[in-house]
Amino acid sequence: MSQTLKIAVAGLGTVGAGTLKLLNAESALLKARCGRSVQVTAVSARDKSKDRGVSLDGLEFYDDAVEMASKADCDVVVELIGGSDGIAKQVVEAAIAAGRHVVTANKALLAVHGSGLARQAEEAGVTLAYEAAVAGGIPIIKAMREGLAGNSVTRIYGILNGTCNYILTRMREEGLEFTDVLEDAQSLGYAEVDPSTDIDGVDAAHKLAILASLAFGREVDFDSVHVEGISRISQMDIQFAEELGFRIKLLGIAAITDHGVEQRVHPCLVPADVPIAGVEDVFNAVVAESEYIDSLMLEGRGAGEGPTASAVVADIVDIARGLKIPTFAIPAVDLKSPEPAPMDRHYGAYYIRLMVIDRPGIFADVAAILRDHEVSMESVLQYGRSPDEVVPVVMTIHETEEARTVRVIEAIAKVDGIVEPPVMIRIENL
Ligand code: NAP
Ligand code: HSE
Repeated sequence: MSQTLKIAVAGLGTVGAGTLKLLNAESALLKARCGRSVQVTAVSARDKSKDRGVSLDGLEFYDDAVEMASKADCDVVVELIGGSDGIAKQVVEAAIAAGRHVVTANKALLAVHGSGLARQAEEAGVTLAYEAAVAGGIPIIKAMREGLAGNSVTRIYGILNGTCNYILTRMREEGLEFTDVLEDAQSLGYAEVDPSTDIDGVDAAHKLAILASLAFGREVDFDSVHVEGISRISQMDIQFAEELGFRIKLLGIAAITDHGVEQRVHPCLVPADVPIAGVEDVFNAVVAESEYIDSLMLEGRGAGEGPTASAVVADIVDIARGLKIPTFAIPAVDLKSPEPAPMDRHYGAYYIRLMVIDRPGIFADVAAILRDHEVSMESVLQYGRSPDEVVPVVMTIHETEEARTVRVIEAIAKVDGIVEPPVMIRIENL
């Protein structure tokens, strides 16, 4: 296998330019590891003249990335444009149709069209590789498909969005609100083109849907993921969480339950002394659980040029070595149909914060609602100030079904003297 592996790269932004830099800088190492040279022959972006901090001399430049995918002199098309539909999907489909292997970092595309694209690639006898799509520099796809091949994973969860973890970390460490930190995450190259994709939890949901497919051998089912973001997390909740012995993290959690496959992304209170609570800044972590390994956690940088380029290049190396593994660990035609568990059957503990006028009797009404719904309180924090001032009251409740918690919160919201909609954050006892 001594022939040079030829690469065409569509998209030269944070990840695309980073990939070219890594391929240039490590060409000798890669040649040694692949037993053949890896050479970029063609690139595509919108603006040919933009300075990307990397030389494009000698590379064929295509204004039309789809044309490049089907016509360029290449064995592999690397799609680093982004988006679940439109140009990115066209590039990937054109590459597969032309018999080229595909490497992509595009979790949105895979979350929405992953099962179909996997079928197309497997029918065409080409690889569809996507290590960079989930958890940046962490080789979690390789770990799931190869390292854990003998395991039936029962639960997989993690911090899957670097931007949100960076924001939550700086909020906790520096007492900032989330809007104060977002611009920094963008300037560091962590955020998506539309950063609401990160903040609203959608990016983490894309990644979770991919992981759940790999873990449970089912078609990718992004539509069933319950998604909440971090925009309603306030400094007050971060401080109360700390006082109660927790940290707030945006987690993606997928598990086999008695009601089907649960997939959820939302802010969580996690005990401050569990390993994932200490995963800070732009770092991601993924935990897989199964009978034989018990629990495995991988941690690393979840976004940015270097970590993502590292993952893209790992896929290129696998292709150069001739490694062939089904896209989602089993052949795409054999993936089972999704069997989503309804979120209202979720069973867990909850943190509830109320903004209450500080006068006698209001908390008695709240306690009566809990009693009437047979929900048991675990702890309560209230700092009174002066009579008739609005004060926060925080309580945690023991495990109960989500539907019941929602009914309790709706009833509490109607109590006279509760002046804002209650804030509810799920507690994960990991
Ligand atoms: P980016 O910096 O916005 O780069 C996007 C690139 O796509 C730009 O070079 C842009 O060209 C090019 N492009 C846009 N429309 C195009 C078109 N019609 N034809 C050809 N090229 C086009 O985005 P990124 O952060 O590198 O992300 C790329 C992909 O990697 C996305 O799927 C993203 O979700 C994923 N990803 C990103 C990270 C990260 O940390 N940034 C991590 C993991 C995965 P111009 O430069 O000329 O405008
Ligand atoms: N915007 C994503 C994040 C990039 O912040 O995690 C990595 O997928």
